[in-house]
Amino acid sequence: MKNIDSNTHVSGTSVYLDDVPVINGTLFGAAFGSPVAHGTIRELMLEEALQIPGVVRIFTAADIPGQNEIGGIIKDEPLLADHHVHFCGMPVAFVVAHTREAARAAVKKIRVKIDPLPVITDPREAQAKGELIIPPRTFTLGDIDNAWRQCTHIFEGSVDINGQEHLYIETQGAYVIPQENNSLRIYSSTQGPTAVQRAVTSVIGLPMHRFEVIVTRLGGGFGGKEDQANTWAALCSLAAWLLKKPVKYALHRMEDMAMTGKRHPYAADFKIGLNDDYKIIAYEASFFQNAGAAADLSTAVLARTLFHCTNSYFIPNVKATGWSCRTNLPPNTAFRGFGGPQGMYVIEAAIAKAAQALQMDAAVIQKKNLIHTGQEFPYGQIAKSEALTCWEKAEALYNPDDLRKVVNSFNAANKLYKKGIAFMPVCFGISFTNTMMNNARSLVHIYSDGSVGISTGAVEMGQGVNTKILQVAAQTFAIAPERIKLNHTSTYTIANTSPSAASATADLNGKATLMACTTILERLKHVAADGLQAAPEDISIVNEQVLVKGTPSTWDWLQLITAAFRLRVNLSEHAHYRTPEIHFDEVKEKGHPFAYHVYGTAILEVTVDCLRGTYTVDTVQVVHDFGNSMNTDIDRGQIEGGIVQGIGWMTMEEVIYDRDGRLRSNALSTYKVPDIYSVPKTIAIDALQTNDDNLAIFRSKAVGEPPLMYGIGAWFALSNAIRAFHPNADIPFSTPMTPEKVLMALYSKTNQETNQHHEETISHLGIDL
Ligand code: MTE
Ligand code: HPA
Ligand code: MOS
Repeated sequence: MKNIDSNTHVSGTSVYLDDVPVINGTLFGAAFGSPVAHGTIRELMLEEALQIPGVVRIFTAADIPGQNEIGGIIKDEPLLADHHVHFCGMPVAFVVAHTREAARAAVKKIRVKIDPLPVITDPREAQAKGELIIPPRTFTLGDIDNAWRQCTHIFEGSVDINGQEHLYIETQGAYVIPQENNSLRIYSSTQGPTAVQRAVTSVIGLPMHRFEVIVTRLGGGFGGKEDQANTWAALCSLAAWLLKKPVKYALHRMEDMAMTGKRHPYAADFKIGLNDDYKIIAYEASFFQNAGAAADLSTAVLARTLFHCTNSYFIPNVKATGWSCRTNLPPNTAFRGFGGPQGMYVIEAAIAKAAQALQMDAAVIQKKNLIHTGQEFPYGQIAKSEALTCWEKAEALYNPDDLRKVVNSFNAANKLYKKGIAFMPVCFGISFTNTMMNNARSLVHIYSDGSVGISTGAVEMGQGVNTKILQVAAQTFAIAPERIKLNHTSTYTIANTSPSAASATADLNGKATLMACTTILERLKHVAADGLQAAPEDISIVNEQVLVKGTPSTWDWLQLITAAFRLRVNLSEHAHYRTPEIHFDEVKEKGHPFAYHVYGTAILEVTVDCLRGTYTVDTVQVVHDFGNSMNTDIDRGQIEGGIVQGIGWMTMEEVIYDRDGRLRSNALSTYKVPDIYSVPKTIAIDALQTNDDNLAIFRSKAVGEPPLMYGIGAWFALSNAIRAFHPNADIPFSTPMTPEKVLMALYSKTNQETNQHHEETISHLGIDL
């Protein structure tokens, strides 16, 4: 089925936050962010700003009627800075004016005197100084201390992983309209309507039932709106509440980039041990997460780093420790993969280091160590593995041996262009790692004309969840999709929602919808049975037709609904789904946290221009574990998008903060994201179709996040291409692999012999590098 939003997207009629019709008297907000990353506020000067025509009022922490606190997991994040600023861009004041322009002009006139305090931007420095969000967490399997003795080959290394800007096309924003009876209607561009509701509740100091949060749809979230939409909704709510006027704030791109957190940068150390047979016997890793100035979701993100620290591999002896380190950057947050990608990059780096030292192809080590069904992940869950199935299918389909030959002869024939390939296996756990969050509700109404309206807690952010939920209802009722409408998300219809995240939205909300539809269908079958003088178990609906024992009756869907309505049968249902089977013990750090895992293997091929350091990603060929996809077009779209976003993170997207904690890559002129010219020339996606029972909706496995991690292979393919030019190149495990870094590595000095060869090439061209 086609994505139900494609027509309105293409015609420009989909309604995003900034498209919600603005009512008369609406005021416009703009936040003033701290110009300094760390310090004590001595004086805040608002006089000049208040002189700007059109300015209505400027709010500060002193105006907050409830608590100046919006921290979701840990209460450590003020909405507006009080005495202390912790990061550059931290909201200090909120201007409200009659126009957007006046509000922004006023922000520019605000002055603040801040006594600076030392700024920390490096997680290792924060860890050394004891600046931690929570005490460190350690996952262990086997007996690491004794395992090293069984290893013939042991390698150690360090890794630096940079962050990533979400760059959702729609920036953050909120529009708040006061309602009667001391309540607010809050339109928010959020993945977590309930998270927004809680933040507003904290700030205003009234019960949750006063605040209706409505989400029409998002122009992308990618995790950046799981928690960080709260600030803007809370600021607008504060102003709307105190002024009794509608207040709107949709951020400018540069405000959004400077004031919101990103994917967490990590530093890490690893030690890997292999036996004679290249089996990985032991793996130890220390992760230093750059959390930023407040917890936000960092602790949960860190947990997923530990969960995915061995990626698709079985390693019998593991010790992984994670430190969530407090620095003076904007609080970093969820981003597609949620800490998993960072954990996976580190194990892949460890394997690459071993392969390089042992003069062998990393793929040999990777394949040998893939996890098998029945083996244990470091967190205690037993694998039901498709890792080797995906890998072997990729080998059968994409002929990597032939590809290697092509690459080798290309490299032999070309001095200044070199190709590299890499395999990237992925294993990603589906469920919120916090078991409590794995629940959802759906409210299904059949109206008396036979049309169906569905509300769930799911937020449509481009991932196609509404289409999938509509398919669930269409299939369950056996009616035309045109009869069904998905409603916007509202905390008045569905309460206590988990954010649309963890790739689990369609599973959770789809299953709740399935339950609601099934319950109504049972009632309808009784109505039909009575009316058609048959037994309820003999009734079925096919193509809107009521059948008795498989034979069409005189009733169709409309007659059935009319009969049910006349008989006063309940045509509505609200259903609650909780993922069964999952549990996790955070003291033992063991359990069964995931409903299931998604597996896959990608083979990536790149070409490096060894004169310029530029490169292209030529092909990404994937075998992906879909389970049994309920919508292959949407799922392929997710895979393509995820791959490109992952490649962007690993290759060109470079978040740069200076030593003072100021974002330098603060616009699209200084922060490069993949464009149509840099996407892979070819993306091939093969569906591994599995028919085993699983907990996915209609056995169609979650697809939102896992494909991003195929992009990690681009880093390793590039480093292999560099080594084809300079076999002993010094390539630090540092991401992203920008053209600058490629160039540095291509001409790095490590070995006299190899350098000679290149000096020839270079002098031949008359260029002094
Ligand atoms: N796809 C689009 N188009 N836009 C998005 O914002 N977010 C990703 C992924 N795919 C995103 C997306 C992230 S981070 C997650 S967790 C999932 O979608 C969330 O949706 P799902 O649970 O329905 O897969
Ligand atoms: N994934 C994504 N988002 C989350 C999670 C998770 O595991 N836990 C809390 N928020
Ligand atoms: Mo996705 S990072 O779980 O919103």
